Amino acid sequence: MQSVQRVVVVPEETIGEINPYLHGHFAEHLGELIYPGICVPPDCNIPNTNGIRNDVVAALNPLNIPVLRWPGGCYADDYHWRDGIGPLENRPMRVNRHWGAAEEPNHFGTHEFMNFCRFVGAEPYFAGNVGSGTPAELRNWVEYCNFAGNSSLADERRTNGAEEPFKIRYWGIGNENWGCGGNMNPEQYADEFCRYRSFVSNYSGTQVEAIACGQDNADWDWTRRFMEHMRRNYHNRLRSVQGLAMHYYCGTAGTAIEYTNEQWLELLAKSYAIEGIVTGCRSIMDEYDAERRIKLILDEWGAWHPVEKGKPTGGLYQQNTMRDACVAALSLDVFHNQADKLFMANIAQLINVLQAVLLVEEDKCIKTPTYHVFDLYQPHKGAQAVRFETYADTVTDGGPSAHYCQTRYLERKTFALRAVHGSASVRDGALCVTAVNTHPTEAIELEVELHRSGWNEVQVVTLNADDIHAHNTFSQPENVQLAAPQTVTARDGFLRVPMPAGSVIRLQGKLA
Ligand code: AHR
Repeated sequence: MQSVQRVVVVPEETIGEINPYLHGHFAEHLGELIYPGICVPPDCNIPNTNGIRNDVVAALNPLNIPVLRWPGGCYADDYHWRDGIGPLENRPMRVNRHWGAAEEPNHFGTHEFMNFCRFVGAEPYFAGNVGSGTPAELRNWVEYCNFAGNSSLADERRTNGAEEPFKIRYWGIGNENWGCGGNMNPEQYADEFCRYRSFVSNYSGTQVEAIACGQDNADWDWTRRFMEHMRRNYHNRLRSVQGLAMHYYCGTAGTAIEYTNEQWLELLAKSYAIEGIVTGCRSIMDEYDAERRIKLILDEWGAWHPVEKGKPTGGLYQQNTMRDACVAALSLDVFHNQADKLFMANIAQLINVLQAVLLVEEDKCIKTPTYHVFDLYQPHKGAQAVRFETYADTVTDGGPSAHYCQTRYLERKTFALRAVHGSASVRDGALCVTAVNTHPTEAIELEVELHRSGWNEVQVVTLNADDIHAHNTFSQPENVQLAAPQTVTARDGFLRVPMPAGSVIRLQGKLA
């Protein structure tokens, strides 16, 4: 007999519009992501358009990627944009010192990245170099990209093939400057931020948004000291910050494809702990920015498993299973529930690196279970998030990572991973509910109660597999995929649907 796990949706209680950027992505020069994940020699046997793989573009197009962050990560603070412009044959070969001392031919630079963004329809988000760069270098990159008038930098862009400015709005001022981006303390970084920010200008109608480096994980001290130092010194320098970007990797338990039921729960718990990170960070920001003007951004998030056997350790290549799908779904649900503050979230990373949506090998390209979650969750983008409450049983307090999970809650709330978590949104009188059955072995009956509303015909789509370790491979690319939609009928405000163990579901219907 399956247990009934109850959730309540309150359509009239709105949270905020779900910014499509909450479904953002990240592409760093790391391992096999850029080469050959995106960029291949134009004359090779992999079909491409000016060196950009056609299969990858075709696979990404249905996802409608809203925003793409580039070129790092750690790599951003060692990247000099001039290396990546002009004729390919003149571009220097560099050492990717952060990622296995790999060769970096600079064949994928500003123009190639912009072409790729156009092909997949993504808004570009550039991460500037603070760690090893200069304010002048960043200043010139912004002018090169955004200036429409008469300047030698704008002319150089035209000579390199782009008549019109790129209109890049989002500029990260460094990356992880508490670590690989310069090992700074928050006060030092705040001062550097201001110096660099002063030279990042609005050109030709493009209003730039400067994104400051935020905390890693539960490092609340970074956020507090950064905000404090910015507020205290001189003219409330917080005015020059448009966004603050934190990072949160939930890590691993076991390996990418080998894990016990306990390790399944441990990873899901660490992943769900992201809720405490977001709420903790936003409450500190609120103390300094009562008007909530500064956007909260999650620049990097996802699972980080041991590198797959046989792959270079510096390449961070990992498989992606139903467990990663549940990590993605739990995280996106948290982001939707925080839609009134969270502006953007970029999963790490797009292809072949960490929790990727695509894996490519030679001329093959496959979609991971994480891809299917992003696809399943698309109707939430741009819709109005509404209250979703779970009354499902607690399945773990975090297991061996209970302390880890709890400290992420700033000790204001007790951590608990429930059998069901989810989110809900409304657009044009239609409700979309997504949810995860977090249990690795127990199928459930999901009961959704709508508060003071009803729905009739409800379309149901699930992502599940017979084995919680299921994943897609180059020989079995469709092992894990979305099930065909089914229609069920709700009774007044109540709906019951079965959810297999370790599965993700989407329900959609008109509100009565
Ligand atoms: O995503 C991999 C790395 O993780 C990024 O380069 C860095 O920002 C983070 O530590």
